[in-house]
Amino acid sequence: MKKENFGSQWGFILAAAGSAVGLGNIWRFPYLCGQHGGLSFILVYLLILFLICNPLMVAEISIGRTSKSNCVDAYRIIGESVGLKHLRLWSFFGGWFAVIGVTLCLSFYFLVAGWVLYYFLEAMSGKLLQIEQSQLAAEFEQLTKSFSIQLICGWIFLFTTTLIVIAGVKKGIERAGLYLMPILFAIFILLCLRSTTLDGAEKGTSFLLTLQPQYLGWTENGFNFKLLSETFTAALGQAFISLSLGFGALLVYGSYFSPKENMFKAVRHIEFFDTLAALLSAVIIIPAIFSAGMSASSGPGLTFISLPHVFQHLSGGHFWALIFYLLLILATVTSTISIFEVLTNLLMNKLNMQRYRAAIVVMFIAGFCFTLVTLSFSGALDIKIWGRDLFTLADWLVSTYTAAIVSLTMALFVGYKAMKPIIHNIRRSAHVSSAFTRYFLVTLRYIAPLGLSILLIMAIFS
Ligand code: PFF
Repeated sequence: MKKENFGSQWGFILAAAGSAVGLGNIWRFPYLCGQHGGLSFILVYLLILFLICNPLMVAEISIGRTSKSNCVDAYRIIGESVGLKHLRLWSFFGGWFAVIGVTLCLSFYFLVAGWVLYYFLEAMSGKLLQIEQSQLAAEFEQLTKSFSIQLICGWIFLFTTTLIVIAGVKKGIERAGLYLMPILFAIFILLCLRSTTLDGAEKGTSFLLTLQPQYLGWTENGFNFKLLSETFTAALGQAFISLSLGFGALLVYGSYFSPKENMFKAVRHIEFFDTLAALLSAVIIIPAIFSAGMSASSGPGLTFISLPHVFQHLSGGHFWALIFYLLLILATVTSTISIFEVLTNLLMNKLNMQRYRAAIVVMFIAGFCFTLVTLSFSGALDIKIWGRDLFTLADWLVSTYTAAIVSLTMALFVGYKAMKPIIHNIRRSAHVSSAFTRYFLVTLRYIAPLGLSILLIMAIFS
């Protein structure tokens, strides 16, 4: 089968940034920021980005680019080239866990994507702005209880994603990133300007800029490790989801990335766009929430319950609501494409399937999981595992376990076993200084495994 590639460096950067920028940035980051002390959360997040995620991103993209293969066989191919033993074990923890992760991710991501579409349609019809303030929470709850509406909206997203993925890497994925990302950032800036100039928005801005030491563990009664660990685990889980790290998506996009292009430049840009999008989302949502006299710690409902209230009190609220939900739709599509592509790429590679066939099979797998999750979440089917409905379970497994296990495997694989071919691959297109090699080695061998082990141990015992 002919190997597909991105047409240009920017094609890769924007597609990978499109994968990264999604509901994780716009829906998840602001509410976590609101729950974990604003600036304290942001600082921990940025530290994690530099010490753990940055080297892991270089590692994941390089594994893909060096092996030019799918997320499971990549470990075997590189492992064989350095005479590594236990190749199945590496492929199992690095590859198959990524497959489990993306499948879980698909199943709950389409549900939230469906909510976005529903709110966009409500905003378009003008209904959203007419709902009584006291009814907004009930409206959201009603949506989450209706499996039919959620299924229809989610399946529309699923079809759209399938069509783009069928169109291929250059014509579908790359083009979507190239056109959608600039529009996305233009909308971001527009909304930011509006949000920060609202009456009373300063309280939200100062919430975002004031350090609340208790979230870093410093309380009036001394140091509290539990509080710090809560902020740390939330930030680390968020970083994985937000950067699409540890799901095989960067690995697969890396396998389409030309070895002639500069890896560092690409990673820098992807991280920059992703972090910018997360921070801008917080700057859009939190000041607006404060200006409406609401609480920033209201959790996942922030985007769907609190924000419509803000739009109702804004002059031109109809326009801003439409623009905002459109932003969410665009960001969601560029992310679902990449989640989808991991499985499509696997089927094409492993079973020698044609792209459109593989994409249709993935559509049915994703559709089945998503339907099951929706039925459980809406209460239409009484399926609970460990006391959690399937939506909460999938989100929890992905943000705490699968991405962390895959990332830990990647860190150990590159840090201890495959540093040579990976550095060789990066060197083909960029100057690798000895300072970078040291940083890469120390972070992958010690810092990332330590951070990830802490996350996993805390998750197991909490
Ligand atoms: N990074 C996406 C977001 O922030 O919404 C989510 C995501 C995309 C996760 C692709 C995993 C993935 F493979």
